Amino acid sequence: MLFSKPVSFAVLALQALSVNAMPAASRHVCKISLSEIPDLIDITIDDITTYLYDGCFTSYQLTQAYIARINEVNSTLHAVLELNPDALSIAASLDAERTKGKIRGPLHGVPILIKDNIATLDKMNNTAGSYALLGAVPPRDSTMAAKLRTAGAIILGKAGLSEWANYRSSNGTSGWSGRHGQITNAYYPNLDPSGSSSGSGVASSLGLSLASLGSETSGSIVSPSQRNNLVGIKPTVGLTSRYLVIPISEHQDTVGPMARTVKDAAYILTAIAGVDPYDNYTSAIPFPAVPEYWKHLQRSSFQGAKIGIPRIAITASSTNGPVLTAFNASVEIIKKLGAEIYENADFPAYAEFRRSGNSSIVLGLDFKTNVKQYFDQLVVNPNNLHSLQDLIDYTMSDPREAYPDRNVNTWIAAMNQPCEDNSCKYAWDAYQANLYLGGPGGILGALESAGGDDGLDALIMPSDFAAGIAAIAGYPVVTVPMGFYPPNTPVVRNSRGLVSNAPNQPFGLSFLGRRFDEQKLINLAFAYEQKTKVREKGVKPYIMPSAQIVDFM
Ligand SMILES: *[C@@H]1O[C@H](CO)[C@@H](O)[C@H](O)[C@H]1NC(C)=O
Ligand SMILES: *[C@@H]1O[C@H](CO)[C@@H](O)[C@H](O)[C@H]1NC(C)=O
Ligand SMILES: *[C@@H]1O[C@H](CO)[C@@H](O)[C@H](O)[C@H]1NC(C)=O
Ligand SMILES: *[C@@H]1O[C@H](CO)[C@@H](O)[C@H](O)[C@H]1NC(C)=O
Ligand SMILES: *[C@@H]1O[C@H](CO)[C@@H](O)[C@H](O)[C@H]1NC(C)=O
Ligand SMILES: *[C@@H]1O[C@H](CO)[C@@H](O)[C@H](O)[C@H]1NC(C)=O
Repeated sequence: MLFSKPVSFAVLALQALSVNAMPAASRHVCKISLSEIPDLIDITIDDITTYLYDGCFTSYQLTQAYIARINEVNSTLHAVLELNPDALSIAASLDAERTKGKIRGPLHGVPILIKDNIATLDKMNNTAGSYALLGAVPPRDSTMAAKLRTAGAIILGKAGLSEWANYRSSNGTSGWSGRHGQITNAYYPNLDPSGSSSGSGVASSLGLSLASLGSETSGSIVSPSQRNNLVGIKPTVGLTSRYLVIPISEHQDTVGPMARTVKDAAYILTAIAGVDPYDNYTSAIPFPAVPEYWKHLQRSSFQGAKIGIPRIAITASSTNGPVLTAFNASVEIIKKLGAEIYENADFPAYAEFRRSGNSSIVLGLDFKTNVKQYFDQLVVNPNNLHSLQDLIDYTMSDPREAYPDRNVNTWIAAMNQPCEDNSCKYAWDAYQANLYLGGPGGILGALESAGGDDGLDALIMPSDFAAGIAAIAGYPVVTVPMGFYPPNTPVVRNSRGLVSNAPNQPFGLSFLGRRFDEQKLINLAFAYEQKTKVREKGVKPYIMPSAQIVDFM
């Protein structure tokens, strides 16, 4: 097929620059037939860029197709909480810009869903799935939304999530919120979508938008990405701005892409990363300009790479046999691709990490502090929330919030912390302990445990084990599809009837590295993806939307 080879955006940008010099007849010639346009479950940003440029279809038509797909499956999966009522008119204006020869970049005219904790100043709400914030108005767009718009992306809607990014109940479920109810996974009926970026995961897995943004405090990008057969990038805390993102913790929150391919995730990360005066953690970014993470991806990235395996943290459970087998097979693949493997590149203070209660101290005191700061920035605050206590009172009294069936114990534990906010020494000491346990006692220690003066390039782990240690010290993780549970897997259900383990359930491989070392992790993840093509070759979701772009042409 003519365009089976991805066309790089750099080439297209050059073509775009010279477009006005071209004779009209040679512009915008669609070189494929309608039947060759890829299915929206497989299409990539490179495909879309080519076809939009060649005039095969418009962003308006693409947006219509995604909306139709959402409407086909949402009543079963509940993944998309709100559509952007302006999506089609934004698409039309981006089409008009393109016609005039202005192409903003690789995301120009590409529809993207964002998690319902990333604020937009438009007709959409930003609620973390809770009625407490319905109708609230932020002072402006979050930096994430503003950057997506500047890059030309169409913010298609808000993806559902575990309410309050899973920081509310001790007996809740991933993917449930008061506003949208239970989100389920597309790979098995009633399967846990994981969380807390559950809707972002399910929607990206089915091509309900090209990709989505999620957010992570501990596991909330990595876990739903692996459970929905996706690539997820959990950036270093500070690489992407959290300004006007409903917080859990300033020390651990980060926003990142959840996409079907490494390159697409890299395009999106490039658009959203960068210094933001509204979030001073971004001042830690060590490079003068954001790298173009998508630009130099190579299949040969493992050649000479030193890869460690922290076996100490990879443990067998009653259900994870297929994951451990697939992981060991991946190690062999990575070895064949030219990497030096270092077994037992372990986290030096792993036993202390396992025992540590520092995380709940940091998260509790951060949430108490940061959620109040978020409330206080709202220009409309319909339920007059000004503290965590206000939020607890609201949630316990609105029946749509399903209290006490879903309790508020996580918040009560935060209220019971022995200081008022995260400025006390107790909170600081816990954070410093986390920096050690995740850094020199954790990921950094493992990276420096072998491989000579420069240490190792990266660590690999089944994604089930990767998130927690990276979370506490703000380290990056990239997860890529690694496999699926086999057809004979016994179905396990939790007490609420949600399936927690099932045939065809996807799982991922994680790459961990030093702070701000995303480029290295993306390069390695790309080489693994290109060699294995797990997503492409693997099992398909049990439910698939049928609408395609051709239906709107
Ligand atoms: C936002 O919430 C209001 C209720 O306060 C609702 O009327 C409106 O439709 C919501 N916006 C979207 C895009 O769903
Ligand atoms: C998707 O379903 C959920 C649950 O019924 C609902 O809250 C949400 O508004 C729906 N989204 C759309 C776009 O219709
Ligand atoms: C950001 O500002 C806060 C409060 O002013 C301060 O405590 C913190 O150290 C700053 N962080 C960085 C990375 O500059
Ligand atoms: C994976 O490899 C490790 C290290 O060689 C070994 O200890 C472990 O038993 C293997 N696990 C499986 C499931 O093959
Ligand atoms: C926090 O971590 C440090 C270092 O491991 C440990 O000494 C301390 O007991 C931990 N605190 C709690 C509350 O677990
Ligand atoms: C959740 O916990 C609360 C107590 O905190 C309890 O009342 C409620 O029944 C629990 N829900 C379920 C489904 O067990």
